[in-house]
Amino acid sequence: SEQKAEYKARIKALLAEKDAVLVAHYYTDPEIQALAEETGGCVSDSLEMARFGRDHPAKTLIVAGVRFMGETAKILSPEKRVFMPTLEATCSLDLGCPEKEFSEFCDAHPDHTVVVYANTSAAVKARADWVVTSSIALEIVDHLDSEGHKIIWGPDKHLGAYIEQQTGTEMLKWNGACIVHDEFKAKHLHELKSMYPQAAVLVHPESPASVIELADAVGSTSQLIKASQELENEMFIVATDKGIFYKMQQLAPHKTFIEAPTGGNGATCKSCAHCPWMAMNGLVAIENALIAEDLSEHEIFVDEALREKALLPLDRMLNFAA
Ligand code: 13P
Repeated sequence: SEQKAEYKARIKALLAEKDAVLVAHYYTDPEIQALAEETGGCVSDSLEMARFGRDHPAKTLIVAGVRFMGETAKILSPEKRVFMPTLEATCSLDLGCPEKEFSEFCDAHPDHTVVVYANTSAAVKARADWVVTSSIALEIVDHLDSEGHKIIWGPDKHLGAYIEQQTGTEMLKWNGACIVHDEFKAKHLHELKSMYPQAAVLVHPESPASVIELADAVGSTSQLIKASQELENEMFIVATDKGIFYKMQQLAPHKTFIEAPTGGNGATCKSCAHCPWMAMNGLVAIENALIAEDLSEHEIFVDEALREKALLPLDRMLNFAA
């Protein structure tokens, strides 16, 4: 950990020297979140990451998260250089929604408004009318429904089903899922709940409907953190990436947070709910993004014509949220 302290000190100096700011997601490891906080950066959900990166005066953004978050930052701030600890940090939702197939799906239903989750490539966003994150999906779909739009939704089938259930809107849905949230199991969660009946259950809507059904609060990472503060329970069972425990525990040190069970084959898996791509955002990788000889291994570029198209649905979301 002495070595870690040295890394942190070097990264802090480099951020200042390069007029760079660290923008981290709640699913990154605790030391990365702490570093973002200590250096005047941000740790937040995907909507706030986008807003923070766009509005911050720094010339350079270091985005610690997964690829679509770096792309979103670049789409919103083409004048900034955007680097990621690794460009390999992808997302199963993004991978499961290739632009060509998704476009064909959209083309087959030309009378539909296309709403996509932020967890998608720039190319898929460019095909969309609206981008949403989980913190604003319900409001935006409600709004579109009230205007009489028929909706195509992609790629997360569980979030899509949750939106349909909450808004009463039927949508044509893509069949994607997050590999982390898809693993939460209602049966095991039910058992854990009966062991700890005093605990409130917090669930991210990328989880299966059967798990969402057992929740006391459902929402984006920032909404779940808020619920963990506002609900009076002293104990919480949390069904989302375990990276979120850092902030929940920091804001409510006296409360107890336990992981919702995951896993197939009849066996529950402890500490499995952590995105392997989020986990790639370590201190070494962050330092590399600031000093590597070959920065092309870290820099996000988005083709300008594509960027302009992808900006429209992103701007719609941010203006709606404002
Ligand atoms: P939110 O932080 O917007 O809830 O998104 C979670 C997520 O899918 C990150 O990849």
